[in-house]
Amino acid sequence: MIVALHFLALLSSTMAWGRVGLMSESRNGTIGGSGGGDRCTCDVFLPSSTFPVRDLVVVEHTAAEISHKLDLEMGKLEEYEIKMTAYVEKILKLSVEIEKMEKNPSDYNDVDFDDVKVEIKQMEALVKELQVSISGSTTIFESLRVEITVMDEDLTRLEKTYDKNLVLVTRREYIKIQLQLEECERRHNELFNPNIGSCAHTGIIKVSKPIVSHLNAHLNSGYKFGGWGKDSKPVPDRESMYWYSGYTSGSIVDIRFYTNYKNLILRNHFQHHNLHSSWIGTGNNFIIRDNTLYYQINSPFGLAKLNFTTMKYESRVIAGASTRFSYSSSINQNFDFAADETGLWVTYATEESGGRLVIAKIDEASFGVEDEWQTSVYKPGVSNAFMVCGVLYAVRTVDIQTEELFYMYDTKTKEDSYISVPFERFQDKFSNLDYNPTDQKLYMYNDGYYVNYHLWFNHTIEATAEPSLLLS
Ligand SMILES: *[C@@H]1O[C@H](CO)[C@@H](O)[C@H](O)[C@H]1NC(C)=O
Ligand SMILES: *[C@@H]1O[C@H](CO)[C@@H](O)[C@H](O)[C@H]1NC(C)=O
Ligand SMILES: *[C@@H]1O[C@H](CO)[C@@H](O)[C@H](O)[C@H]1NC(C)=O
Repeated sequence: MIVALHFLALLSSTMAWGRVGLMSESRNGTIGGSGGGDRCTCDVFLPSSTFPVRDLVVVEHTAAEISHKLDLEMGKLEEYEIKMTAYVEKILKLSVEIEKMEKNPSDYNDVDFDDVKVEIKQMEALVKELQVSISGSTTIFESLRVEITVMDEDLTRLEKTYDKNLVLVTRREYIKIQLQLEECERRHNELFNPNIGSCAHTGIIKVSKPIVSHLNAHLNSGYKFGGWGKDSKPVPDRESMYWYSGYTSGSIVDIRFYTNYKNLILRNHFQHHNLHSSWIGTGNNFIIRDNTLYYQINSPFGLAKLNFTTMKYESRVIAGASTRFSYSSSINQNFDFAADETGLWVTYATEESGGRLVIAKIDEASFGVEDEWQTSVYKPGVSNAFMVCGVLYAVRTVDIQTEELFYMYDTKTKEDSYISVPFERFQDKFSNLDYNPTDQKLYMYNDGYYVNYHLWFNHTIEATAEPSLLLS
């Protein structure tokens, strides 16, 4: 029976890929014809050696190469998907057979059982093989990401030295490649980690390198305060929506919504809400959930909730919460909202607890506190915190480029422990770090840049990581 359940889980994840659909139009396309030779010969006709064409050609060649590698990866992913679908069909057939056997064991002899066992072992081997080959893509993505970052630096240098319009075409190619990589990675993730929403793990064991999406929509690195991400419980038709809010001070004055990742990068918002002057927030540890902004306000000092479906605004005062304790790298970060697989949370520190973090579970409908947990971690020593599966993770700054998940508190068991999962920052400071349960990624607003991270969980008890555990 366990086997059958596991099979169903596998099947439902396959259906999820089906809904995503293939981005076939980007498969075969080398971008903007940059792979062709025509453009490369241009520099022959140009009179001035100061003209940046040679540099641009180099960047364009890089673009074409990256694009080609991405095409190959996308092709591989499509093959995996086809194979996976076939395996799932086979597994479903087997599980029906097993159920029959379980109901009437006397109808079957040892040979029948052995046959099924052999088939299961074969499937197990195939799935393992597939997993190994898929996981190889991760390193390819990482190296492509480095190449793309270098390309961005080259472009920025060219834009500074020469007329921006000359570089514009190449800049567009750069954006297209970024989108291609993002799509490729998303597909890879869905194949590699079909356990979105599952809490059958014992915690985070690794954080990826920072994935730098873009400078903020104001294209202004002075907008150091803010946040970006996805709705953690999207309303229908807004599943692929992204949001961004940034400012030059810690105040929260407005927010922009984008229909999807592409429009975020192209800075085409479909909604721009300016917050009413008496609703202005602070602290930048806000989140969007159920099309609703949850954030800190200073008058009265407390929590605010703004539902963009109705534009209804509410606020709450939390007795005991103190203005005195902020995170280590930014002032006014007294309340930090978080969302995970189990719901909505807010953390803060109190005088009574001597500045140690308190975790509160929030009821989304009434906006009241359901329950509270006292941790033993001192808030001013923490750079930020987030929740995953009812477990608080506290982060601290180690050095100029390193953060570390160093503390966890499990609200289910009321147990805490010190851990060490280091990860890299892209820029010096960040004002917003949150987990999103819809894609199991971390989102960081890092000195004006959109940055995110993939997470690896300890699946020691999980079926897909160790199929033999289930089948033995
Ligand atoms: C890619 O383009 C070439 C040439 O146009 C074509 O022969 C090939 O079938 C295409 N491949 C895919 C996967 O679309
Ligand atoms: C926002 O308003 C809509 C429409 O009334 C409602 O269905 C939804 O539950 C509200 N969301 C929250 C988080 O209160
Ligand atoms: C994963 O979890 C298992 C079981 O709780 C534990 O024994 C193991 O040390 C964990 N691995 C890591 C890398 O934390």
